[in-house]
Amino acid sequence: MSDSTVKFILSEKDIPTTWYNIIPDLPFQMMPPLHPGTLQPMNPGDLSRLFPMAVIEQEMSSKPEIDIPGEVLDVYRLWRPSPLFRARRLEAALRTPARIYYKYEGVSPAGSHKPNTAVAQAYYNKREGTRRLATETGAGQWGSALAMACSFFGLECSVYMVKVSYDQKPYRRALMQAYGADVTPSPSPKTAAGRSILAASPDSPGSLGIAISEAVEDAATHDDTKYSLGSVLNHVLLHQTVIGQEAQLQMEMAGEKPDYVVGCCGGGSNFGGLALPFVGETLKTKGSGRRGPRAIAVEPSACPTLTRGVYAYDYGDTAKVAPVAMMYTLGHGFVPAGIHAGGLRYHGDSPLVSALFHHGLIEARAVKQLPVFEAAVLFARSEGILPAPESAHAIRTAIDLAVEARETGADPAILIGLSGHGHFDLAAYDAYAAGILEDYEHPQDEIDRAIAELPVVNITAGEAS
Ligand SMILES: Cc1ncc(COP(=O)(O)O)c(C=O)c1O
Repeated sequence: MSDSTVKFILSEKDIPTTWYNIIPDLPFQMMPPLHPGTLQPMNPGDLSRLFPMAVIEQEMSSKPEIDIPGEVLDVYRLWRPSPLFRARRLEAALRTPARIYYKYEGVSPAGSHKPNTAVAQAYYNKREGTRRLATETGAGQWGSALAMACSFFGLECSVYMVKVSYDQKPYRRALMQAYGADVTPSPSPKTAAGRSILAASPDSPGSLGIAISEAVEDAATHDDTKYSLGSVLNHVLLHQTVIGQEAQLQMEMAGEKPDYVVGCCGGGSNFGGLALPFVGETLKTKGSGRRGPRAIAVEPSACPTLTRGVYAYDYGDTAKVAPVAMMYTLGHGFVPAGIHAGGLRYHGDSPLVSALFHHGLIEARAVKQLPVFEAAVLFARSEGILPAPESAHAIRTAIDLAVEARETGADPAILIGLSGHGHFDLAAYDAYAAGILEDYEHPQDEIDRAIAELPVVNITAGEAS
């Protein structure tokens, strides 16, 4: 490789043919998801109302690798393998000895990493006879990914879009509609969950927890409809591991082993997709003396799930109809401020990411909105790509690490998960440029109140699946 190389490109034959399942490599047992009604461990039958059997099997699988179907690979070929760049111009702007790399998922047609799982979920649903998928979306990235995937496989798609994002991001709604989806602002009068929120709080800005309740209710009350989730669950992180597997090959091409792997964390799917293959490699070579990279999940101070939440069983949604998961949570009633990183406004977190954090195998940081946009703009001015506000959380932390390196004289290799572009987030950039964007740190007393409403669950590790 010449010393000025900036792009590390794989060929189509390097697209992973299996998804990596970290569960068999974990040094602890995962706690099982619980039924929201009985608070007892769920069995596959409980989940079949919401998901196709292939997805349920993956959710509970202990196989180390799961084959990616040819039909899914055919769609992945439209944008995979995604490129990995060395951010030489950002390094120069920061005058840092650190080497900064970013794995760019914004090259997918919908503009983010979300199609990696949307395509797989749409495929399995089609194969098992589903006619329509219902889902929620925050910023609209997930909704547009699923809308696109449904159009590829001939499924109808209904999206409940968090109201604050529906108003802030009308063009994402237009994109979903162009792919053929119907889009409803949430909370909505279409579902019992939405109606009860509106009765109590007519001006509710909505939250991912509320939108999930609506989409789950929609699926559970229509025989031909299933539910699809764009983050949090094991099968979603599994599908996203194509990112980390490719990045491992590309870092090898660059002659590097990353010292840091940094991803933003909403429900944990892009962070998990990038980090799990690296964490898994460290776990597999444990005892060899080799130290793996420090994996850092970055969240907003307005929704500090890992850094200020509790590790406990909680409902995945506001109306308590979705499965109950063991995770870091701010409480299912938590409604974060309407920050522009809509995809990071979730009260909980992936059980896998949560467990890794709980067991000290990954780290977490929270960052505020204004420094995030400052980092996003510096990144755009040096690398050209305008990042999604969500992804800019990872950039902020990578910049902090690179500046720290300048000060300490260290020269780490930092790998950023650049999960999407921000071309549909220009209203946010506009607000930042106009100086009207606010910082937000969620008050501790509100977090404490939301956490006080956690369900009382009597399950011990002995009952783990
Ligand atoms: C570009 C982008 N990055 C990150 C996220 C956060 O989700 P997750 O933590 O599942 O990757 C979202 C969610 O919508 C997103 O759109």
